[in-house]
Order: sequence, then C-alpha cells, then structure tokens
Amino acid sequence: MISINSFEDYKKQYALSVQNPEQFWEDKANQFVWKKKWDKVLEWNFEEPDVKWFLGGKLNITENCLDRHLKERAHQTALIWEPNNPNEAVRKFTYKELHSEVCWFANVLKNNGAKKGDRICIYMPMVPELAIAVLACARIGAIHSVVFGGFSFNSLSDRIHDADCNLVITADGGFRGSKDIPLKSVVDEALKTCPTVKKVIVLERTKCNVTMLADRDVWWHDEIKKVSDKCEVEIMDAEDMLFILYTSGSTGKPKGVVHTCGGYMVYTAYTFENVFQYDATSLPLGGTKSGIFWCTADIGWITGHSYLVYGPLLAGATTLMFEGIPTYPDAGRFWKIIDKHSVNIFYTAPTAIRSLEAMGLDFVKPYKLNSLRVLGSVGEPINVEAWEWYYKNIGKENCPIVDTWWQTETGGIMISPIAGITVTKPGFATLPLPGVQPVLLDEHGNELLGNNVEGRLCMKFPWPGIIRTTYKNHARCKEAYFSTFKNYYFTGDGCRRDADGYYRITGRVDDVIKVSGHLLGTAEIENAINEHPDIVESAVVGFAHEIKGWGIYAYVIPDRERKDSDELKKEITATVNKFMGAIAKPDKIQIVSGLPKTRSGKIMRRILRKIAEGDINNLGDTSTLLDPAVVEEIVKGKV
Ligand code: PRX
Repeated sequence: MISINSFEDYKKQYALSVQNPEQFWEDKANQFVWKKKWDKVLEWNFEEPDVKWFLGGKLNITENCLDRHLKERAHQTALIWEPNNPNEAVRKFTYKELHSEVCWFANVLKNNGAKKGDRICIYMPMVPELAIAVLACARIGAIHSVVFGGFSFNSLSDRIHDADCNLVITADGGFRGSKDIPLKSVVDEALKTCPTVKKVIVLERTKCNVTMLADRDVWWHDEIKKVSDKCEVEIMDAEDMLFILYTSGSTGKPKGVVHTCGGYMVYTAYTFENVFQYDATSLPLGGTKSGIFWCTADIGWITGHSYLVYGPLLAGATTLMFEGIPTYPDAGRFWKIIDKHSVNIFYTAPTAIRSLEAMGLDFVKPYKLNSLRVLGSVGEPINVEAWEWYYKNIGKENCPIVDTWWQTETGGIMISPIAGITVTKPGFATLPLPGVQPVLLDEHGNELLGNNVEGRLCMKFPWPGIIRTTYKNHARCKEAYFSTFKNYYFTGDGCRRDADGYYRITGRVDDVIKVSGHLLGTAEIENAINEHPDIVESAVVGFAHEIKGWGIYAYVIPDRERKDSDELKKEITATVNKFMGAIAKPDKIQIVSGLPKTRSGKIMRRILRKIAEGDINNLGDTSTLLDPAVVEEIVKGKV
C-alpha cells in the first residue's frame, strides 16, 4: 500500500524511519503474509558485516507475489508479454494463470531433482518463462542465479562455477531485433567445464537446431506434461538466500551478490509502490487496464529482478515484459508499445533515451503517449539534455520523472523522487527514501556535513534490501563495501549534495565503468582481451560517450610478431565477444608497445583515462614512471 501521499508524509516518514527504523519497517512487513512472524526486526553491524532483518520470520515470497492476490485479483492481468516481432501474438497471464504456470514449473524443477538451497542458473531470453522460472525457483526454495543472455560461455561458466549450480534453465535461442541468439549452444560450451550441472531444462523458443545430451538435457514442454499445477510453497527463513546476482567489481572476477527472502520482499514492494505511486487497491479489479507498469530492463540485471518481477507482483500490479530492443523494427518501438498497451508507468535507462533522442522526433510523433502518468530513469546519471527531451517529448510535460539511484547491492531504489510529490530537478536523484541514510565522506572518511558538498556516497544504517554477502566469499563483501570506510557501506559512487540537500550522482570512483547502463569491470574486459593468443597485456579505461554514457577504450600490447593492424583489432573485438559477450566490445582499441607503470609495476590508469578523454595537456607528473617515454608514444597514437 502506498504510504507516502504528500511531501509532508514523506518528511514525517523519513523522520520516523531514522528515529525508529525497527518500528518503521515492521509496519511495512506486517502487510505481507508470513508463515511465522519475526522475533526481532533487526540485528546489524557493518564491521563484519552482519545484517539480518525480520529474524526468525518464515515466509515464501511467491506466496506474497501470487497466492495472496488470488482472492481479489485472480482475473486481473499480472504479466503482459510483448514479443520481439510486433506481428507475433502478445501473451497475457492473469494472476491465476501465472500462479498455475509457476506451480507447474516448480513441480518440473522438483521432478528433475531440484530442492531447497540448490543453486539454479537461468540463462534465457526475455520470454514469460524466464519470469516463471525465477518464481518457480523461489517457490521451492532454490536459489536463482540469472545470467544475462548477452554474456558468452566464459562469463556463463564462471558464474555457474562460482555458485556451484546443479541445474541450468535455458532456451534453444532468443530473438533480439533482427538477430537469433543461440543460447543452448553457449550453455553446451560453458558446461564443458562445469561438472556440477546434472540437468538442463530447455525451452523451445526459436526452434533452431540444438543438440540434446541424453540424461542431462530435457525439454520444458515435455516435462510440463508430467506434472500438476498444485505446488505448496517451501517455507523459508527471512534470512534464507533468495537469489544470487553477479555484478562486476574492480577485480576480474564478478561478485555473487546475495539477497535474502524477507528484507528483499519488503524493500522492493515498498519502493515500487511509493516511488512510482502504484496503488493496486485503488484500481478497478479484473481486466487488463489496471495500471500498466513497464520496466524495460532485462531480468538478467537487478532492475529486472526488482521492478519487472518481484516489486510489481508483490504490489498486485500489471507488469509488462518486452522481448526485443528499442530500435526494432524501428526506433519508434517503445512508443508504439506504450500506445498499444496503454502503459501508465514507463521505467527505462538514460542510454536508451539518448539513443532514441538521436534518432529524431519523427519516430515519436506518430504516437499519442497519453496513457503515461509517470516516467522513470535508472542505471546511470541522466544528463540534463536527455532528461528534458524525455520530459517534453515522451511525458508531454505532464509526467514526473523519477530518477532512481540504486545498485545491485542495494536490492531496491535508494535515492529518488516520489512521483508527483518530490519537486524534481533534471540530473538529480533528489532525496533519500525513508529508511535510507546517505552520507558523503571525504577521502579520509570524514563526514561532510551540511549542503553544497561533494564526496563519496556511503550509507550509515542498513535498510532491508541491503546485500548480505557475496556468495561463498564473505571476505570479499567486506573488502568491497565495508572496508574502505569503517562502519559505512561504501557505494563506489561519487556524489554531490547541493544547496537544497538534493543528491546528484557524479559517477563511479573505482575501476568499473557503466557502458549503456551495464556495469563492467575493466579487469574483466582485460582478462577477455588477454585471451587473444597474441596479446601480452592490456589496460581498459572508460571515456565519455554521447549515447552509451561511457565507452570502452582498450590499450593493448601485442607480442612482437603482430603489427598494429585493423585485422588485429578485429580479432581482439571477436575475442572479447567470444569470451565475455557483445556488451563488453571495446569502442576504441589502441595498439601500444608499453603501458605507463609505476616502479612497482602498477598501471597508471589515471593517465590512460586522461589520454582516452583527449585531456592530454594535464597528465600530471609522469617523471616517476618506469618508462616516461611510453606516455608520449601513447598520446601520439591516440585513436
Ligand atoms: O554508478 C551508479 C549507477 O549504477 C551503479 C549500480 O549499477 P548496477 O549495480 O548495475 O545497478 C543498476 C541498476 C540499479 C551505481 O553505483 N546508477 C544507477 N542508477 C543511477 C546511477 N547513477 C546515477 N543516477 C542513477 N539514477
């Protein structure tokens, strides 16, 4: 239920959430179905770190997403699916139908040996069965680890390995724009090095040729025939793991961010309803016109988990899922879908807005867009120009924009306007939600008090959706988020608080880059480049990119036999594509004979970043480098 109805409410709730966080969150948690109420609301310390919410509480999140709504909204549409090809039929599922689908597939999982606590990897295209698979795992207490379908076999096998998955759910392939993406063959390649996987369940989508391994691979449609749609929920502890989602870090290995059942449920539902002002109870029951929410993110990312699947379903909303891309068959596709389904709330990424803005208004003009009520932005800072374009041309100056700042690790939205209630400012995520206590620290860890300050964004108090650990490696969680500044959660972002106390995220302050809204570790991309047999060493940095936000600039050292050539650059691109996936392909590759290093061998990325940005008059002191001459060579050869 929406609890913030005015800016006064916001201020009151914010104050309460800081004075008495336990009471504040207990009140929110009480709105759900629990098999057993919690004994204690919160226990925490940021030192180890050890954070637990709703201790002793028992629940199943799918009971709250599905069963809980059957009495009132069984015949309301829960999920609308818009296919990649606009001529293919739309699919719709009422809450009752989605409940049955999830139960069916939960039974398929059980029939194939899955049980509570197992890790299940999901590598699928954006079809309803992906959401069904996620919910089916949660229903039986298996921990899902969704891997974005754009990652290639190496990234996939790393993630399967790290989580010791014993089952993979995939499809023969997926449609994205004019392309058919092979998925099953990528799984086959990945599984060559993953002996823990005993079963692969394959959905038929593109009908491409696949090889099915006897005893290991089964078809989704065959398995469904063997089961019923009756499946009791597995009773989970509030702090049992719900899912693992891998995110890039400053080292080469992605981190398995762990979220748990109780806190994540309360946090995603609360933030969904309040930020977007989605009140299912005020909408007419039944039919499809009960407030259509469309989040364009892929379920392979946290935004898809929290605001395509869990948040909306917990709220009893109608969530729209789109299989394709914004430019297929043309750059008007998003706007066409909004009109076709009368979308009320539209949540997308700045990179998509910028790329569609660049295509011109002719793609927007044919559409009315008059069903829209709220617009959202997520994933990277939105520049003022894109914000204004979005506000004017898509929202027709009638729709508030919620610029929502959050992270895979935060589970849900943290700093954001409340739609229609908070006065917005282009480029600003504005104010913290109730329950969120941000601070800005200087590089020594001193808190910057007051307004008009800029520093590193940290949190000083836990919220229910906070990361609990990184899978199988708690030390890494501590090191990455809780060690830089003692007793604070460190976000890795730089941030400014302006004269009004509004927050503006300035970008990452570590070695990860946001490319088209996707977080990529530079070390991870370097590892992929170094898979090329002729590359000795590489260094990757980001550079400002008009559409993508950040582009990837790779400096590579080939062995002596290979000359600087387009051929070599093409091969490097193909290598990254093969080992990591198309999202990590460098925009620029510069062949160099050496890299600027300190005497201790550390690459001076600061210098490389400046060169990539073209800021060459301001490289700082290079005299302490191992080989200062290399800088001159790199500047000359800049691409
Ligand atoms: O740098 C911030 C940026 O995205 C990072 C988190 O990325 P990820 O874990 O992939 O989650 C993305 C979806 C929540 C943050 O550390 N970021 C996210 N939203 C915004 C943002 N930067 C500025 N403004 C935002 N609204």
